[in-house]
Amino acid sequence: MKPIQVGLLGIGTVGTGTFNVLQRNQEEIRRRAGRGIEVTMVADLDVARAQAIVGTHAQVVNDARAVIANPDIDVVVELIGGYGIAKTLVLEAIAAGKHVVTANKALLAVHGTEIFAAASAKGVMVAFEAAVAGGIPIIKALREGLTANRIQWVAGIINGTTNFILSEMRDKGLNFDVVLKEAQRLGYAEADPTFDIEGVDAAHKATLMSALAFGIPVQFDKAYVEGITALSSADIRYAEQLGYRIKLLGITKRVAGGVELRVHPCLIPAQRLIANVEGAMNAVMVQGDAVGTTLYYGKGAGAEPTASAVIADLVDIARLAAADEAHRVPHLAFQANAMSDLPVVPMSEVVTSYYLRLSVADEPGVLAKVTGILAQSGISIDAVLQREADKVGGEGATQTDLIILTHDTREGTMNEALALMQALPTVKGPIHRIRKEALA
Ligand code: HSE
Repeated sequence: MKPIQVGLLGIGTVGTGTFNVLQRNQEEIRRRAGRGIEVTMVADLDVARAQAIVGTHAQVVNDARAVIANPDIDVVVELIGGYGIAKTLVLEAIAAGKHVVTANKALLAVHGTEIFAAASAKGVMVAFEAAVAGGIPIIKALREGLTANRIQWVAGIINGTTNFILSEMRDKGLNFDVVLKEAQRLGYAEADPTFDIEGVDAAHKATLMSALAFGIPVQFDKAYVEGITALSSADIRYAEQLGYRIKLLGITKRVAGGVELRVHPCLIPAQRLIANVEGAMNAVMVQGDAVGTTLYYGKGAGAEPTASAVIADLVDIARLAAADEAHRVPHLAFQANAMSDLPVVPMSEVVTSYYLRLSVADEPGVLAKVTGILAQSGISIDAVLQREADKVGGEGATQTDLIILTHDTREGTMNEALALMQALPTVKGPIHRIRKEALA
């Protein structure tokens, strides 16, 4: 059978990885796909650099539309990123009848509904394994491997930059800013690192996983997003003393009122496998009613791990391009006409347990006032720890860190209790609140 012809839009890190792996493993990939997969055209603004990477194997142009307009190209691989020109080009490629492979989680999390609808109308595939957790085949797992299950929840470390930062802060006691610079130097961070550290990148990925897990439309705008910029090394240390690790988790969960969709730092019991995922590695846990808990671990970024996911999509397309749409795996795992309207529940309705750190005056009655507010709010305490605060500790200290772990309560209830505690004159400075997940 004639090889499938691929056009790359952008040949940066992932594009180069994709080209190299396709070259290196071409025979193995052909045996698996049933036909060859060849990159025959590349669009990149830096034509000379792109030409140096692909040599004589592919034609290089500086205009992405020339790739889309080429009738010989079967699949367009979008590796530009962002919601701007990438969106226009993806829609133009679909309109031109090309299948699309993309690593662009931001684009699909925000504009996925429009893009998947356009693809279905045109009878082409939009594949995005590389958009979530790089080389880990989590899209494949959710769309196919776990298809028998009623998924209960998905929770993942799906941003390598923040996991690297948290690991280094814990291991070396370094400050956030120092470690962020190192993460950027190592190439883990997005071009704009605020997407990483503010939790936006993880929320894009969690949004895609919520759609795949529950058959709901992509709804990034409904996600609760909180990053790691407010975390201090004191929180990491106290969590450790209490038997927990702090991780930035993307969580989506089926609950009575709908679906939770949230990204925020979490205390996780240190004995969980996922609590021990360190550095820039990613891991995703999926709980299904039939399979129980499963865990997927691997590199969430980098040239060849991400290329591994891009090429898996190309192989799927090579195998399924001739099948009519009804016989392909649906874009979002559920048939387009069988999507659910389960709402994403507001964060105030989410039920979790909490870690609270209060800087309080070290004087009689302070603990009683704080615990009194929690008692009035119906919030049950799991553990209390009092420690001399970093800066004001030592002999004669007048201020102390009070750490409280609570049992499960509604976020809205906790917010009200936090406001009351914050107003106490004996509470010095902002109260730090981190949610806790058992992941049992
Ligand atoms: N900036 C992302 C991360 C890269 O740190 O995980 C992969 O999406």
